[in-house]
Amino acid sequence: MSTAVIQGSSGGLGFALTQHVLKHTSLNVFALTHRSAKELQERLGHHERLTVLDRVDIRDEGTLEKAASTVRERQGNDSVRLIACFAGVLEPEKSLRMINPQTLLDTFQINCMGHLLTYKHFVPLIPSKKAFAELKWDEDPAKGLVAKTNSLCFSLSARVGSIEDNKKGGWYSYRASKAALNQFIRTLDHELVNKSSSGVAMAYHPGTVLTSFTRPILGAKAEPNPDKGQFSTDQAVEHLVSIMSKASREQEWGGRLWDYKGEQIPW
Ligand SMILES: NC(=O)c1ccc[n+]([C@@H]2O[C@H](COP(=O)([O-])OP(=O)(O)OC[C@H]3O[C@@H](n4cnc5c(N)ncnc54)[C@H](OP(=O)(O)O)[C@@H]3O)[C@@H](O)[C@H]2O)c1
Repeated sequence: MSTAVIQGSSGGLGFALTQHVLKHTSLNVFALTHRSAKELQERLGHHERLTVLDRVDIRDEGTLEKAASTVRERQGNDSVRLIACFAGVLEPEKSLRMINPQTLLDTFQINCMGHLLTYKHFVPLIPSKKAFAELKWDEDPAKGLVAKTNSLCFSLSARVGSIEDNKKGGWYSYRASKAALNQFIRTLDHELVNKSSSGVAMAYHPGTVLTSFTRPILGAKAEPNPDKGQFSTDQAVEHLVSIMSKASREQEWGGRLWDYKGEQIPW
């Protein structure tokens, strides 16, 4: 119960959360990236509780299977408290003319199928409710990050994945892949309940965050503007952690899409 798995650790938000978890909790962190380990390891610096697992490309199930085996070998079963999935790409199609089948496929593979495959291989390492209840610790290693009553499956989704909220159109592949991700999260949460897992699954919208993801849209000179829901990565991770730490089964957070204010977004 002392392990966080952070998929997509070298991205803007994934990196900021990885730093936060290392600094503010006593969890062991497995930082997954599809890039090479060297750069991420250098950016994060040396930590006894950190393992970087590189070349984990969520389009390739074998790489996820291998990463999960490594976590099981080193930490054992019932070891994972948090699985956070950050993978996401955006092809901003404005009209049907811009639809490209390969881009559609890549977007679905990364934005939704890859999250589901990550859960397929890592959820078995989350303790059952019974095993969770029998755990004894002096201080919760995930204190301040995950509610003390549960484990957490946390996927970065987006408000634009909400079908009800779609008032402008555009971004076919991104919107549809996030809508599919939301359905995966809802379905996963039912499975967690049915299998008496200690896990709760939720999808999350972080607002607009200044990362390499939004740079092509907002421009390199964009500044944080919290009144307009536009944040630096540090501000975004503060919100993200505050929502993560509240999410519990009792308060019915599971199987839903939440925004950075803690408000539920309709499907
Ligand atoms: N920034 C925003 O305003 C915003 C708004 C709403 C939702 N989101 C969502 O938040 C998430 C993180 O976004 P960000 O702003 O941090 O973007 P980013 O800096 O561009 O990060 C992209 C993420 O995708 C991962 N990734 C890309 N291709 C991958 C692959 N083949 N296999 C595994 N991982 C892959 C990267 O992980 P590695 O490079 O470490 O493998 C990284 O975590 C995305 O899902 C995005 O849709 C962002």
